[in-house]
Amino acid sequence: MPAAASKPLQLRRAAPLALALLLALALVADFLWASSSSSSTSNTRAQVKVDRRRAKAKSAKHVTGNLNATYGDLPAPRWAWEEMPAAPVPRLDGASVQIGDLLYVFAGYANLDHVHSHVDVYNFTSNTWTERFDMPKEMAHSHLGMVTDGRYIYAVSGQYGPQCRSSINRNFVLDTETKEWHELPPLPLPRYAPATQLWRGRLHVMGGGKEDRHEPGLEHWSLAVKDGKALENEWQPEIPIPRGGPHRACVVVNDELFVIGGQEGDFMAKPGSPIFKCVRRHEVVYGDVYLLDGNGTKWKQLSPMPKPDSHIEFAWVIVNNSIIIVGGTTEKHPITKKMILVGEVFRFDLETLTWSVIGRMPFRIKTALAGYWEGWLYFTSGQRDRGPDNPGPKKVVGSMWRTKLQL
Ligand SMILES: *[C@@H]1O[C@H](CO)[C@@H](O)[C@H](O)[C@H]1NC(C)=O
Ligand SMILES: *[C@@H]1O[C@H](CO)[C@@H](O)[C@H](O)[C@H]1NC(C)=O
Ligand SMILES: *[C@@H]1O[C@H](CO)[C@@H](O)[C@H](O)[C@H]1NC(C)=O
Ligand SMILES: *[C@@H]1O[C@H](CO)[C@@H](O)[C@H](O)[C@H]1NC(C)=O
Repeated sequence: MPAAASKPLQLRRAAPLALALLLALALVADFLWASSSSSSTSNTRAQVKVDRRRAKAKSAKHVTGNLNATYGDLPAPRWAWEEMPAAPVPRLDGASVQIGDLLYVFAGYANLDHVHSHVDVYNFTSNTWTERFDMPKEMAHSHLGMVTDGRYIYAVSGQYGPQCRSSINRNFVLDTETKEWHELPPLPLPRYAPATQLWRGRLHVMGGGKEDRHEPGLEHWSLAVKDGKALENEWQPEIPIPRGGPHRACVVVNDELFVIGGQEGDFMAKPGSPIFKCVRRHEVVYGDVYLLDGNGTKWKQLSPMPKPDSHIEFAWVIVNNSIIIVGGTTEKHPITKKMILVGEVFRFDLETLTWSVIGRMPFRIKTALAGYWEGWLYFTSGQRDRGPDNPGPKKVVGSMWRTKLQL
């Protein structure tokens, strides 16, 4: 840590100054363009637009290397990572759960126009992909909520089909011993990437994106379950979560339920598009941490993550009374508005309820699927960055990596 922490000191002092200056310049430029365009003809307005775009691109180039803590990489020790056998297919927005030395990896986009409908299984002892089997064809293909009790895997709601198609409210359960699937009572409403966990005998589902894929849902429901079966016919309403939205880590540890990070807003289907083409909409990424308190009657807010982080729903593991989270996405670039991926490894210490940045991944990546086995931290799949100097999203991958973890 000391070696990594000492170098950016100078930068830390210089970067905010440089950024403030650039932002001030950009604001002045914006103001000037705005005032001149209001009194100009449509022709010059078009020219103004082009100039403005050029000005933005120019200042963005200067800012990229000097982003502050919200957008830039945080100081973190470089870790040695070992590349392991890649998954049979690349996937973005897939789902995963670990049972013993097996990582079950579900669904996901191969690309925006193609989604998977099968499960790949990785064995952390043999370090091989050992098995592949189909999901029910009625089950969603991305943005699933998912959790396991150690044998049964509960798969909740999610998006059915490629691009930005609708979500469905159907829920399924897999018995990993018999490989049989069964259906559970449907959710009251469909959701995209809702926070999902098992807590005190009930399957809890909360937040996520609403039916339009963009509006954050606050609703929270639960269903009593045991050994892969629902003990009730209907989901019960629970206390709504104070902040909604998809792509959050939801963790139960020491009998406590945490909801970590996430975002408000997401891509939406273009109105009238026959292929439900995805279009970008306003998003706010946050690092909020909520604890379900008072026997499930109220939410308590804890220290936020070191920076806003989303797309981490299966990017966490529990090790030695800590929650470890890898990668994700943070707030968009303040000037280019481009999506920025995260490459840090975060630790939430459950003893002190505080966060730290403990390491760096081999690259920045969103919707990584994480596992932990006998001292090794693993992650596979997701969408990675364009390179060390460009945190924008590019390739959807299936690669698997591991590092020796020492907390
Ligand atoms: C980074 O810059 C943004 C935009 O100027 C600002 O809102 C934010 O508070 C800054 N964050 C830090 C950690 O300095
Ligand atoms: C994983 O692989 C190891 C080594 O081949 C094997 O002993 C173990 O049983 C496998 N795990 C499971 C759950 O099948
Ligand atoms: C939670 O519920 C249990 C059982 O009903 C009760 O004994 C306990 O006092 C409750 N705790 C709180 C904090 O309300
Ligand atoms: C977890 O704690 C045990 C016992 O203190 C220690 O031996 C082990 O190295 C720790 N694991 C990690 C990943 O730090």
